[in-house]
Amino acid sequence: MKLVIATGNKGKISEIRELLNDIPIDILSLTHFPGMPEIIEDGAIFLDNALIKARFTAKFTGHPSLADDSGLEVDALSGKPGVLSARYAPTTEERNYKLLKELESVPDHLRTARFVCALALARPDGFEWSTTGTCEGSITYSVSGDGGFGYDPVFYYQPLGKTFAELSREEKNSVSHRGKALRAFKKAVLAENLLK
Ligand code: IMP
Repeated sequence: MKLVIATGNKGKISEIRELLNDIPIDILSLTHFPGMPEIIEDGAIFLDNALIKARFTAKFTGHPSLADDSGLEVDALSGKPGVLSARYAPTTEERNYKLLKELESVPDHLRTARFVCALALARPDGFEWSTTGTCEGSITYSVSGDGGFGYDPVFYYQPLGKTFAELSREEKNSVSHRGKALRAFKKAVLAENLLK
C-alpha cells in the first residue's frame, strides 16, 4: 500500500516518516511527483488547507494522500502567524526575527503560543479522515538550538525546559503537535483500515 505525503517540506517529511516507520506502507512524497501543480492554500483554518492539499494530491497521484497543515499561533498577536506561518517573512531566519521583534516588549506571562497540526487523509475513492494535534508553549526572547525546523528555535516547551530546536527528534515527536496528530492517524489506520 502506498501513501503520498502531500508536502515538499523536508522537515515535515522526515518527522512523518519517522512516526509512521512501524506500519507496513510505502511512503512517497511530492518529491516523487515533480509534475504536480502548486496547490493554492487559501483556507481560513489549518484543517481547510490540509483537506485542500490531501484531496488534490489524491486526485493527481491516484493514491491515498496525507496532508499536514501546521503552524504557530501566538496569543499576543491574536493568533498570528497562524495559517500564514510559512509566509510570515521570506526566510526561516527572517520569520523568527520578525516574531521576536514583534514580541520585544511583551512580558513573560503574555508570551504564550501553540503549535497546531491538522492532518487530513483523502483517498481517490472520496473517503476522507482528519484530526488536529496541538502543543502549548511560549515564545523565547532569542533563538536557541539547531535541531528541528521553522519556528522551533523560538518555541519554548516548559515541561522539558528547552526550545523545540534543543530537543532530540524523539523528544520532539513524543510531545509535538505533529506527533500527537500522527499517533491518532496511526491508531485509526490500524483500527479502521483507512488505507485500503
Ligand atoms: P505549511 O507548509 O503551510 O503547513 O507551513 C507550516 C509552517 O509552519 C512551516 O513552514 C513552519 O514555519 C511552521 N511549522 C509547522 N510545524 C512546525 C514545527 O514542528 N516546528 C517549527 N515550525 C513549524
